[in-house]
Amino acid sequence: MTRRYLMAGNWKMYKTVTEAVALARGIRAGLEANPPDLDVVLAPPFTALHAVGEVLRGSRIALGAQNMHWEREGAFTGEISPLMLRDLGCTYVILGHSERRQLFGATDEGASRKARAAMDHGLTPLICVGETLSERESNRTLEVVELQVAKVLRQLTPDEVAVSVVSYEPVWAIGTGHAATPLQAQQVQNFIRKQVALSHGDAAADALRILYGGSVKPDNIEALMEQGDIDGALVGGACLKADSFLKIVHYDAA
Ligand code: PGA
Repeated sequence: MTRRYLMAGNWKMYKTVTEAVALARGIRAGLEANPPDLDVVLAPPFTALHAVGEVLRGSRIALGAQNMHWEREGAFTGEISPLMLRDLGCTYVILGHSERRQLFGATDEGASRKARAAMDHGLTPLICVGETLSERESNRTLEVVELQVAKVLRQLTPDEVAVSVVSYEPVWAIGTGHAATPLQAQQVQNFIRKQVALSHGDAAADALRILYGGSVKPDNIEALMEQGDIDGALVGGACLKADSFLKIVHYDAA
């Protein structure tokens, strides 16, 4: 099985609408000048989804959100539903990001419900897992990631897992400038794939795209992509400028 690679930009809480439109235009122009043979997703803040969606209309770049609630509507002040994201043209949603987990109480259980809701509304879930520094230092990385993966995929069928995306994001690597080494990432990502083979079968595990996230930059992406179980990247800081994100997307340019 050859998995189609995916490069996703998580814009976090950056960019006003005007700034977001300019960045999206820059990325679109760069990708149209040099179309990559992989999937690209931009995940701006909620406030810029509509405007960025307009910029991306008719392109091959997909629109993603950074979070959502699992209900389609209701009295949930401050929340955004899967129905609303679909309405804006989103086709992806990031779930269980470590910043949501660490700062806003997000849980595996919530990510699991949201992954179910994403599937029910035609959104591709991009689910983040990863250990903290203290978990890695106490040699609990695989144990922690195993539990997270089991929980977040629990409500998905094998066919649904096959079209989902998991991003391995060691918390100690996010925003720190200290990316995991290609071998560190590969070890965990291969472990994730084997675990998914046990829980959802070989075909699902083989098709599942597993990204790496955490201080991905133009100068480390190529070595990461050489690993067999790294199918792309979820990029934070380096996606906020068109030229650095484009370099990551075009990592294999001669
Ligand atoms: P970073 O963020 O690239 O800035 O480390 C990655 C992420 O949070 O997904």
